[in-house]
Amino acid sequence: MNYQHILDEIYDEIQPELMRGKVADYIPALAEVKKGQFAMTLTLEDGSVYSVGESKKAFSIQSISKVFTFTLALDIYASELYKRVGVEPSGNPFNSLVQLEYENGIPRNPFINAGAIAITDSLISYYKDEDRALDVIMNFIREISANPQLSFNKTVADSEMEYGDRNLALARLMKSFGNFENDVPGSVMTYSRHCAITMNTEELSRAMLFLAFGGTDPVLGKEIVSASKAKRINAVMLTCGHYDASGEFAFYVGLPAKSGVGGGIVATVPGLMSIAVWSPGLNKYGNSHAGTLALEKFTTKTGLSIF
Ligand code: DON
Repeated sequence: MNYQHILDEIYDEIQPELMRGKVADYIPALAEVKKGQFAMTLTLEDGSVYSVGESKKAFSIQSISKVFTFTLALDIYASELYKRVGVEPSGNPFNSLVQLEYENGIPRNPFINAGAIAITDSLISYYKDEDRALDVIMNFIREISANPQLSFNKTVADSEMEYGDRNLALARLMKSFGNFENDVPGSVMTYSRHCAITMNTEELSRAMLFLAFGGTDPVLGKEIVSASKAKRINAVMLTCGHYDASGEFAFYVGLPAKSGVGGGIVATVPGLMSIAVWSPGLNKYGNSHAGTLALEKFTTKTGLSIF
């Protein structure tokens, strides 16, 4: 298959869509990002890369970071983790408080904000310290993205904290039900920092390769998680990776994937490749409008959906 040709076609076809949707504006630091930008990268088993658009331009990965923290926590706690966080789609927006109240402080899944904050809390408990937990998260993503310089944007993280009342409320609510172990503001700060990591589509697609290959990074030749855990992570991406639009995403695209409000989406084609796409205009669910369409075009043109 001529992947570069397919990407070039998608790039041309997607142009009329790039100004649609709305850039995340809940914090000023994200609202400044310009619409009209687009990048898409595929990474294959041998590490070879196909890209179009601004694939070297870093953006805020936001909720995509939740895939990496879920991977780390699942590796540490195995099925014990599910006592604190479920694996069912929420059918609610990513920052909803309502469901958490009537489900006794146990978040539906690791990708809604409450679930991801609980996971960050579990990593802080394990590493006994916020800074150490953040270092482990950063170093993990540095290794699998092959960029040792990777860092987070402090302005975005601070801004997210300043406007982070809802995330703080989610953490406090979990604490009131006994599902929180560490300092609430410190844990939410650590969460905001890993959300504020900046990466480009080449790095993101490289970092997801282990999930396309049963938990083993084929370029590093290293098992990152067991095949059984990689299966679970892919399953939760498929069912929960796009929040209340996960069903629609499976319907149109048909790949395990995770979105972020920075406009990024990562996806895996099991046994074949990982994909990252970026375009900052978001649909009403907070997922990249053009990014979703580009992935739909990709699976339609190539037949490479899991279904
Ligand atoms: O906590 C938040 O709301 C953001 N740091 C992340 C939200 C996000 O990316 C939702 N994804 N589409």
